Amino acid sequence: MDKSKYLNDKPTDLDFDRREEKEIDELDDFPEKSSGLNPLVNRPPTKLISPFIPKSFSQFLNLLKISSSLGLSLLTRKAYIWGNPVIVHIEPTSLCNLHCPLCPSGNGELTRERSKMTFEQFKTIIDKLPSTVRMLLLWNQGEPFLVKDFTRMIRYANQKSMYIVTSTNGHFFRKPEEVENIVASGIDEIIISLDGADQESYQKYRIGGNLELVTKGVRNLAKEKSRLDLNKPLIHLQFILMKHNISQREQMIRMGKEMGADKLSFKTLQVTNWKQGEDFLPKDSTFTRYEGKTADGIYKTKRRKLFPNDCLRLWYSAVINCDGQVSPCCFDKDGQYSTGNLFDSEFSSIWRGESFQNFRQTLLDSRFALEMCQDCTEGLKNLYPETIDYHKS
Ligand SMILES: C[S@@+](CC[C@H](N)C(=O)[O-])C[C@H]1O[C@@H](n2cnc3c(N)ncnc32)[C@H](O)[C@@H]1O
Ligand code: SF4
Repeated sequence: MDKSKYLNDKPTDLDFDRREEKEIDELDDFPEKSSGLNPLVNRPPTKLISPFIPKSFSQFLNLLKISSSLGLSLLTRKAYIWGNPVIVHIEPTSLCNLHCPLCPSGNGELTRERSKMTFEQFKTIIDKLPSTVRMLLLWNQGEPFLVKDFTRMIRYANQKSMYIVTSTNGHFFRKPEEVENIVASGIDEIIISLDGADQESYQKYRIGGNLELVTKGVRNLAKEKSRLDLNKPLIHLQFILMKHNISQREQMIRMGKEMGADKLSFKTLQVTNWKQGEDFLPKDSTFTRYEGKTADGIYKTKRRKLFPNDCLRLWYSAVINCDGQVSPCCFDKDGQYSTGNLFDSEFSSIWRGESFQNFRQTLLDSRFALEMCQDCTEGLKNLYPETIDYHKS
C-alpha cells in the first residue's frame, strides 16, 4: 500500500484547517450561565457506571448466562456461549482528520476500506442489538465526530438503556449550536484524547492537531453542560504517556481542572515494534504496559494474575465496524477475523455463529496463537497507571 499517497490525499470534508481561526473566535462569545457562578467549578459530579452493574432483570439474567458460559468454557476448554455481550463497540467511521504515527487510521496502515456509516445503517445496527447490552462504545478506528449525523446517532441509541461513551481527538466542539447538540444528545461520557501540555509536545503524536482548538472545545463542553444544568456527559481527558510528554503530567492535571474536566486518565502507550518503542516509550517502566523485551526485540506486556493466558473479552463484548462487519475484538484493526456482517444478518446468528465460536475456540486452545493477541489490553495490568477524579481532588 502506498502510504504517502494516502497521507497527502485528505478527503475534502476533513479539511477544516481554513475555518480554525474564525471558529476559535466564535467560541470566545460562548454564552455563560446567567447565575454568574464559575461554570467550570459549580457543577454536580457526574456518576460513573460499571457495565457489569445490570439495570434491569433481563440484563442481570444475561450477565448470569454470559458468566456461566465463560466459566464452563474456561473449565472445559471448549467454547460455549449463552447470553449476549454487555459491551458493544460501533465504529461510526474509519476516517480521521489527524495522523497519529502509531494509529493505523492516522498513519495509513489500515487496509480495510475507509468509510463513514450512514444514519440508516447505524439505526439498523441499534435495532438489531439485544436489549441486554449495557454499554455502547461509539468508536474503534477513526474520528467519530467526522460523521455528520453523529449526534443524531447518539440520540437514537439513547432510546435503549445503555451507557453511551465516545472517544475523540476533540477538534469538533466549536460552534455553540453544535456543542449544545452534543451535550444535550444524552451521551454519558466523552473521552478526549489530549496528550501534551503545549502545542510542540502535543503535535509530536497528534500530527495535524491543534491543542488550542481542543482545550477551547473542552471548556465549551463544560460550560454548556453547566448552562443546560446537566450532570452529563462526563468529560474525561485521556493522556497517553510517552517519552516526550512524561514530564508534563502535573501541568496536565492543572490544565484539566482549569478546563472543567471531570476526570483525567493517564494511559500507557501501545507499540507494535522495537523502533516505535525506542521513539515513543518512556524510559521508566512504571509508565509503560511492558515488562521488557524478548531477545528478538518484541515487547512483553505486564499481565494480570487471574487468567493471564485467557481472553474473557470474546464473551462479553463485540465490535461492529463502519462497514457492518463484526470483529471479535478491537485489536482486529483490519477486520481480518470478521465473523459476519450485521447489515445483512441478525446479531445472534453472528454472535453464536460458527465463525465467532471458532475464534473463541482458537483462543481457548492457545491464547497467544494469533499475532494480534500478543499485545492486546485484555488482561493487561498497567493500562491506566493513574487516574484523577476532579470531584475528589
Ligand atoms: C484509534 S482512537 C479513535 C478515537 C479518536 N480518534 C481518538 O483519538 O480518541 C481510539 C483510542 O486509541 C487511543 N490511542 C491512539 N494511539 C494509541 C496508542 N499507540 N496506544 C494506546 N492508545 C492509543 C486514542 O487516544 C483513543 O483513546
Ligand atoms: S486521532 Fe484517533 S483515530 Fe485519528 S489518528 Fe489519532 S488515534 Fe487514530
